[in-house]
Amino acid sequence: MSPLLSALLSMEPTDSLIALARVCGGGLVTGEVQRFVWDHCIAKDAGKLHAPYLKKFLKKLIAEVELNHGDVLDELYEQYAHFMASLKDSDFEKGNARVFKCISFLFPDGNGFNSCDSRKLMAPLQCSLNMLEGDTGCSIWPSSLFLSECILSFPELFSNKSCFEVGSGVGLVGICLAHVKASKVILSDGDLSTLANMKVNLGLNHFSVETVMSETTEDPNMVKCLHMPWESVSESELQNLKPDIILGADVIYDPVCLPHLVRILAFLLNPKKLYPEKGSGNHLGLSLESKCTDGKVNGTHQGSTDNGDKFQALLPKRTENGATYAGLKKGSMAFIATVIRKIETFDKFCALLDSANLTIKDLTDSLRPFNLLPYMHSYDRTGVRLFAISCK
Ligand SMILES: C[S@@+](CC[C@H](N)C(=O)[O-])C[C@H]1O[C@@H](n2cnc3c(N)ncnc32)[C@H](O)[C@@H]1O
Repeated sequence: MSPLLSALLSMEPTDSLIALARVCGGGLVTGEVQRFVWDHCIAKDAGKLHAPYLKKFLKKLIAEVELNHGDVLDELYEQYAHFMASLKDSDFEKGNARVFKCISFLFPDGNGFNSCDSRKLMAPLQCSLNMLEGDTGCSIWPSSLFLSECILSFPELFSNKSCFEVGSGVGLVGICLAHVKASKVILSDGDLSTLANMKVNLGLNHFSVETVMSETTEDPNMVKCLHMPWESVSESELQNLKPDIILGADVIYDPVCLPHLVRILAFLLNPKKLYPEKGSGNHLGLSLESKCTDGKVNGTHQGSTDNGDKFQALLPKRTENGATYAGLKKGSMAFIATVIRKIETFDKFCALLDSANLTIKDLTDSLRPFNLLPYMHSYDRTGVRLFAISCK
């Protein structure tokens, strides 16, 4: 029943919860399922969950049991009556309230989804209920769920790497990077309220937060959170980052911001700028050879280098769907996950990359992550694409 609990903790739509509850009971919300809901979902976590959401779920659960002429557990009736007396229906709709969700990444085993797998990650997050204007960074976007699944599915790509994320929002990608033991995790956002919320989330996940770049001894539990508007960040600030890997989730949507974002990528992916004294000191072992022409992504793989082969040896032989990691070779790299909402905006991004001497490759099919969020029916992973960007 762990998918049902995970769905409740991540505040999935209540209809999805009922569907999962039915699956648990073999088609009906049985007494056993209700007992589980009470013991594990409500009695234990009622205080942490968003009460109007829980009220809505209980209302549907009770209706479902009654419709099928079942017996509703007394505790569920009592809890619902308590909510009826203390909450109004309109409370759910209320403005920009922040809520706590818990995103559970479940790893498949032979018998379904294993909630005891040591790779499992549960990330509590404070976020906004609605994707309100000006509050975009406090919502969890599908691209960051996808990028998180990639990180947890292919930890060897990120462990012992220095990782820097642009537009980090709630901080979920950073939490996954720290979970797979990236050597350094630097998160950033241009919005101050988003940054404040991100810091809360890192605290909830037991990380300590540093807000300035420093060369001091690295605390493995330390995540850096930087205020970094793309328009104004200076080259000297970027110079300090020296990341092996740059990440971004759902950051390609505003055409006005794109030239600034590409400037950052061009600077950080160009080893001559980051490591002038060392020449072209490639330090990761990854690069790409596809070209971006007229806004179209060309995914042709043109062979590999020795270092590329060395890196390939680190990778699992095959992805979940059997594909290989064709195209991953030597050099620093950016991984950008995005939903392409407007093709013109994406084409503009590709054209800017091309003029900045960067290449882009679509890795969506070759680096397909495990579905670690099987309970999250609201997450449309098919709409997310994963791109890798590197220096030509
Ligand atoms: C759609 S949200 C995505 C948040 C998060 N990466 C996710 O996928 O859940 C875009 C994020 O980029 C940040 N952002 C947008 N424009 C920015 C800019 N010009 N400079 C810095 N951050 C920016 C926003 O504050 C927000 O956190």
